[in-house]
Amino acid sequence: MKVTKICCIGAGYVGGPTMAVIAQKCPHIQVTVVDLNEQRIKDWNDPNTDNIPIYEPGLSDVVAEARGRNLFFSTDVEKAIDEAEAIFISVNTPTKTYGKGKGMAADLKYIELCARQIAKVAKSNKIVVEKSTLPVRTAEAIKSILDNTGNGVQFQILSNPEFLAEGTAVTDLLNPDRILIGGDTTPEGYTAINALVDVYANWVSKDKILTTNVWSSELSKLTANAFLAQRISSINAMSELCEKTGADVSEVARAIGMDSRIGSKFLKASVGFGGSCFQKDILNLVYIAKSYGLNEVADYWEQVIIMNDYQKRRFSNKIVQTLYNTVADKKITFLGWAFKKDTNDTRESAAIYVADDLINEQAKISVYDPKVLKNKILSDLDYLDTRKSSENADAVLSFENPYEACEGAHAIAILTEWDEFTKYDWQKIYDSMQKPAFIFDGRNILNAKELKSIGFIYNSIGS
Ligand code: UDX
Ligand code: UDX
Repeated sequence: MKVTKICCIGAGYVGGPTMAVIAQKCPHIQVTVVDLNEQRIKDWNDPNTDNIPIYEPGLSDVVAEARGRNLFFSTDVEKAIDEAEAIFISVNTPTKTYGKGKGMAADLKYIELCARQIAKVAKSNKIVVEKSTLPVRTAEAIKSILDNTGNGVQFQILSNPEFLAEGTAVTDLLNPDRILIGGDTTPEGYTAINALVDVYANWVSKDKILTTNVWSSELSKLTANAFLAQRISSINAMSELCEKTGADVSEVARAIGMDSRIGSKFLKASVGFGGSCFQKDILNLVYIAKSYGLNEVADYWEQVIIMNDYQKRRFSNKIVQTLYNTVADKKITFLGWAFKKDTNDTRESAAIYVADDLINEQAKISVYDPKVLKNKILSDLDYLDTRKSSENADAVLSFENPYEACEGAHAIAILTEWDEFTKYDWQKIYDSMQKPAFIFDGRNILNAKELKSIGFIYNSIGS
C-alpha cells in the first residue's frame, strides 16, 4: 500500500509544521491540513507566508515552497478525509476541566469527534494516525468508534507521536532523533506501519524509524515528556539548595552533565517549565497510574509537577521579599512572556503564574515579549480566573519597545530566554529605572558580573 494523499485534522503547533515538512520532503504526496477554525486556515493561507499563525524559525520558507504545490490548508474536513489514504489526528487534548478526572485526565472529546467524522465520511480503507499525545489505549477507543459507526470499510490505527519542540520545530522535523510508529501486530497492521515508514523514509534514514506495538508507542510519548520534565524539576530542586549553600547551579549542571550517563541537555535551572505538553502529559500519566491502583508510581511522577509549581511560586516570593516585602504599586517589568524562546506560544508559561502572584500583591506589571501581543497576555491571565478581567487589564501594560517597558521600573524579571535580552544596552536601562534597580533572571541568561558592575542588584536562579 502506498500513501498518495494525506489529511491532517488540526492546523495547530503540531499539525501545521509537521505537515508542512512532510509536504516539502514528499512532493509526490498531496497533504491537506484541515481545521474547524476558519480564521486559522485563512491565516495559514495568507499570501505572505510571514503571516502564518505559528511563529517557528524557518517555517514560513517551508510553507512558501510547498503551499499550493502539494500542501493545502482547508476547512473542508469531509472532502480531505474522503480523499486521503492516511488521516492524521492532530487536534488538541487539553486537561479535563470538568467531571471525572478533572484537572488530571486528558480531554478526548475532540479526538472522539474526529473519529466519528472519519467513520461517517470514509468510503474506502483508511490508515488513521494518532499524532496528538494521548493516554495509553486511546487507539482502542478510536478503533471501536470507527468499527462500530463506520461504513464497513477497514481502519488501521497507528500511533505516531511527535517529539518536536517548539522554537526548533522545523529542524527537529528535518533531523529527528527518531520517528516512532506503533501499530497492530497483525499482517494488516504491518502493512499500515510500512506505508507510514515509507512516507518518513523520504528524508529520515530507516535506522531512525522505530516500529512498536500501539501501546508502547503511546506510552513512550508520555514517558519521554515525563523524563524531560523530571530533569528540569530535579535541577530546579537543586537550585534552591544551591542558593542556600553558596553552590552555583550552573556549575553543578555543567559538572554532572559531563557524565555521559547523565548528559548535558535539559539541565538548565529556570523559573519552571511551561508549554502545552509537560504538565498535561504528566498529569495524564499520574491519572492513568492511579486508575490502575499504582499509587506509588502516581505519587512519584506527581512530584515533578509539585516541584515545578513550587519553583514558580518561589520566584514570585523572592521578588516580593527582595523588594522589601512589598510590591504594591511598584512597576515590575517582565522581559518575555512566551514559555520559551523562539515561539509565540504562551500555554502554561511560567510568566502567567508569576504575574498572577504579583498582581495579588498589587504590583503593576509591564510586559515586553518580541512575539506575544497584549491581548494574548490578558487572555492568559483571564483564563486563570483569579480576578475580574478589568482588574487584569488595570494591572498589566504591554510594550512594543523593551526600553520603554523598563523605564521607571523597580525591578525587571526575565521570564523567557530570548537571545535579544542579552544584547540590550543595560546601562541605558539602569539609568531609566528606580533605584535600587533589581533584576531577577529567571533563565540565568544575563551577564551577572556586568550587571552588578553597572549597579544592578542581580538575582539568578540557583546561585
Ligand atoms: C498538539 C497535540 O495535538 C497535543 O496532543 C499535544 O500534546 C500538544 O500539541 P497543538 O497542535 O499544540 O496540539 O494544539 P493546537 O495548536 O491547539 O492545535 C489544534 C488544532 O486543532 C486547533 O487549530 C483546533 O482548531 C483544531 N481542532 C480541534 C479541529 O480542527 N477540530 C477539532 O475537533 C478540535
Ligand atoms: C516538549 C518536548 O521537548 C517535545 O519533545 C514534546 O514533543 C513536546 O514537549 P516543548 O514544550 O515545545 O517540547 O519545549 P521544550 O524545549 O521541551 O521546553 C519545555 C519547557 O521547559 C520550556 O518552558 C523550557 O523553557 C523549559 N526548560 C527546558 C527548562 O526550564 N530547562 C531546560 O533545561 C530545558
